[in-house]
Amino acid sequence: MIKPIIIGNWKLNGNKVFIRKFFEPLNRFLSKYHKKCTVIITPPVLYIYLIQKIFSSNNKKFFLGSQNVDNHILGPFTGEISSCMLKDIGVKYVIIGHSERRFNHKESNTIIAKKFHILKEKKLIPILCIGETQEEKINKKTKEICMEQIDVIFNICGSYAFDNSIIAYEPIWAIGSKNSAKAKEVQYISHFIRNYIKSKINHKIKNFFIQYGGSVTRKNAKKLITQKDVDGFLIGGSSLKLKEFTKIIEITNI
Ligand code: 13P
Repeated sequence: MIKPIIIGNWKLNGNKVFIRKFFEPLNRFLSKYHKKCTVIITPPVLYIYLIQKIFSSNNKKFFLGSQNVDNHILGPFTGEISSCMLKDIGVKYVIIGHSERRFNHKESNTIIAKKFHILKEKKLIPILCIGETQEEKINKKTKEICMEQIDVIFNICGSYAFDNSIIAYEPIWAIGSKNSAKAKEVQYISHFIRNYIKSKINHKIKNFFIQYGGSVTRKNAKKLITQKDVDGFLIGGSSLKLKEFTKIIEITNI
């Protein structure tokens, strides 16, 4: 049995007061769970340092991640965040390719693959989001979309790309919709993703995980996590509600 990974993606939410109210009890709660389950929170990046300061490095029972990284290391790129800077402050996990960035910031598969490459070079762990729109689902294009989003990573990063990495399967229609994908569908696509990646390489992949994301709640967590190819969750809305989030962690570990 692998150690599940639960990631809370806060998106554009949170402030200093909320952070104190959230992390102190979360850290206490995790005393019981942190050995069985890896919990990662990706707050807005400017709060990472603050959260690190609240907890001395040896009592923090969770990891902090970034919601984005630039595809350049340094230079004239106003407003961007570099992988070196993330590494400098001790961040290990970085979300890339979230559908909200693909759509709102017009990030192409190629840009995302460049980001992936930069993260791998710096030995950071990419959390690559992939998944189909409602229309693509209706047109039965889910597998095709996932393959396209994976292929470009292999093309730019080589056959070891997905060792030490995470793929979050997030069907776009399920995000923030209160309408999670059905557990069986999630298993079917997660299994497909795992096999597809295996089919493209000639070595035994190491430390590769598949998350599901899209309206995960305490109500659907059990059914989803018990699917064979689901190794954890990427959670938006429910990760901002402490009770809901800790309940999901509890359920994941039963
Ligand atoms: P929700 O859990 O709010 O549907 O968001 C999922 C998501 O986009 C996580 O990255």
